[in-house]
Amino acid sequence: MKKISFRLNGESVECYIEENQFLIDILRDNFQLTGTKEGCGMGECGACTVIVDKLNINSCLYPAIEIEGKDVTTIEGVAKNGQLSEIQRAFLENGAVQCGFCTPGMVLSTKAFIDELSDNYKNISKDDIKKALSGNICRCTGYLQIIESVKNLIEKRNSAIQTGD
Ligand code: FES
Ligand code: FES
Repeated sequence: MKKISFRLNGESVECYIEENQFLIDILRDNFQLTGTKEGCGMGECGACTVIVDKLNINSCLYPAIEIEGKDVTTIEGVAKNGQLSEIQRAFLENGAVQCGFCTPGMVLSTKAFIDELSDNYKNISKDDIKKALSGNICRCTGYLQIIESVKNLIEKRNSAIQTGD
């Protein structure tokens, strides 16, 4: 067993891990953060997506030992004070959630994408959004509503910037 320390949803945490464990197991088993889903377990479906140091990664393939000193955000860290985030609200308003299994990963990939844009929303196309979410598979929605959610959110933020809101 090895002790690791890292930041998890804004808090400093530590835990003991086996050196061959993956991040998803630590999140679900040690911290009971079961919003991180295991689908394929092979890096193909994106259900296990979390953000590590601003990048969306597949936690089913991410060695837990490499998380030492890093900053991890799971879906449980996205809503604040019981209030859904803007991204989560956009998904709900646009009917982008059906069974919900892919939703945490989709929301986190969207968050990593939007945060990386740093308020530079001009000229973001549907293709850019599709590319940003290409690692996340949804079996229910056909993607249309998910892409629309992100597009609408970007348009909303862009017009708030233009009008100085
Ligand atoms: S469970 Fe990790 S990519 Fe599918
Ligand atoms: S909403 Fe069911 S897999 Fe996406």
